[in-house]
Amino acid sequence: METQCYIQIANNNLLKVTNRPDIVMCKGKGMYLYDTDGKRYLDLVAGWGVNSLGHSPKAIAKALAKQAKTLVNASPAYYNVPMIEFAEMLSEISHFQRAFFCSTGAEANEGAIKLARKYGSVHKKGAIEIITTLNSFHGRTITTMAASGKAAFQKLYEPKTPGFKKVKYNDLKAVKSAVSKKTCAVMIEPIQGEFGVYPASEDYVSGLREFCDKNGILLIFDEVQTGMGRTGKMFCYEHFGIEPDIMTLAKGIGSGFPLAAMLAKEKLNIFEPGEQGGTYTGQPLAMAAGIAVLNEFRKSRVVQNCADMGALIVSRLHKLSEEYEIENIRGMGLLIGFDLKKTKGADFVNKCLKDGLLINSPQEKSVRLMPPLVIKEKEIDELFAIMIKNLARK
Ligand SMILES: Cc1ncc(COP(=O)(O)O)c(C=O)c1O
Repeated sequence: METQCYIQIANNNLLKVTNRPDIVMCKGKGMYLYDTDGKRYLDLVAGWGVNSLGHSPKAIAKALAKQAKTLVNASPAYYNVPMIEFAEMLSEISHFQRAFFCSTGAEANEGAIKLARKYGSVHKKGAIEIITTLNSFHGRTITTMAASGKAAFQKLYEPKTPGFKKVKYNDLKAVKSAVSKKTCAVMIEPIQGEFGVYPASEDYVSGLREFCDKNGILLIFDEVQTGMGRTGKMFCYEHFGIEPDIMTLAKGIGSGFPLAAMLAKEKLNIFEPGEQGGTYTGQPLAMAAGIAVLNEFRKSRVVQNCADMGALIVSRLHKLSEEYEIENIRGMGLLIGFDLKKTKGADFVNKCLKDGLLINSPQEKSVRLMPPLVIKEKEIDELFAIMIKNLARK
C-alpha cells in the first residue's frame, strides 16, 4: 500500500493522541528503522529508550519463537518456568530479593505506590502520602499522573488520586520540610529523563537515603528509563552507592517487548494474596524476552559498550560545542541531553528526520539522545555528520 493511503487510514481510524510525521515505519534492523517508502533512519529514539539491543535482535527473535512453541500463557494463578528463572536472574544482578512483573512502566509504578501504601498501613499507622518531585514523569495512569510533577498533567483528568506531595528536585531540604506523619515513601527518578535528562546529585541521593532510613520512610527509584544498562551501569542507583527499597523497571528490560518489573527488598514481601496482581504478570513470552536480554547483555558486554559509547558521544558533543550552538551537555551512559542556543528543539528534530536521523526534543530548547545500547563508532560518526548539518554556528 502507498504511504499516503496508510496516512489517510491512520488519520481516519486511530484515536489522535499525539502529532506524528507523515511516515509509516515497517521494518527495523540493528540501529536502523525503515519506512514504507524504503527510507532508512538512524534511530536514536529507540522506541523511547526501549530497544536496548537494537531493532529485531536475533537473540530476542529466537527466544520468542522458542517460547511461543512451548508455552504462550499459563495464567497468573500458576507459576511458570521462565517467570521463576527471570525473577532469580534479577535478584542475582540487583540488590533486590522480590520481583513483581507487569507490562508497562506506569503499571510498575502503580505497583510501587501500592506497596508503599501497604507498608504505611502495616508499619506506619496508615501513612499513605508519597513525596515526589516537580517535573517528574512516572506514567499515564490516573495515579501515576497524580504522582508525576509534569506541569501539563497537573490540571488534566481531575480529580486525580490524592496523597502526592511534589517538591523541588535535587533539594533535600524541600523533602525534609514536606515530610509528615502521613509520609510512607519518597519516589524519585535518578535522572529526570522526560524533563530533559537532569541527573540527581550524589549529595541529594545519599541525603535522601539517610533521611528515609532515620524516619522509617521507603525510598523508591523509578528506573523505568534509567535501568537495565542505560546509564552505563546495570542500574542507575549503583552510581550513587546506595540501595533504594523499591525499584521499577520497564523500557530496556524487554528490549522492545512489553515488559516491566517492580523489584523490592525482602522486608517488603507484605502483600496479602489478592492485593496485587494482573492477568499478564509473569507472562511467559515477556519472561523469555527478559531472560534473552540479560543473557545477551552478558555475552556481548552491552553495558560496557553503553558506558564507552556514551563517553565518546559526550566528548564529541563538548568538542562540537566549541563551534556550534550546543550547551549544557548532561546525562549518564547513553541517556544524554543538551540544549540548543538558537534552533528550536522541535525544528532540529524535524530537520534531522528529513536527513534520516531520529532524535527527540523533550523540552523547547533541549535534545535527548537515547540510542540502542549496542551503538558503535561508525553510527556515532553518522549521527554527528547529520547533526552538524542542522546545527547553527555559535
Ligand atoms: C521515568 C519513567 N517512568 C515511567 C514511565 C512510564 O512508562 P510506560 O510508558 O511504559 O508506562 C516513563 C516513560 O517514559 C518514564 O520515563
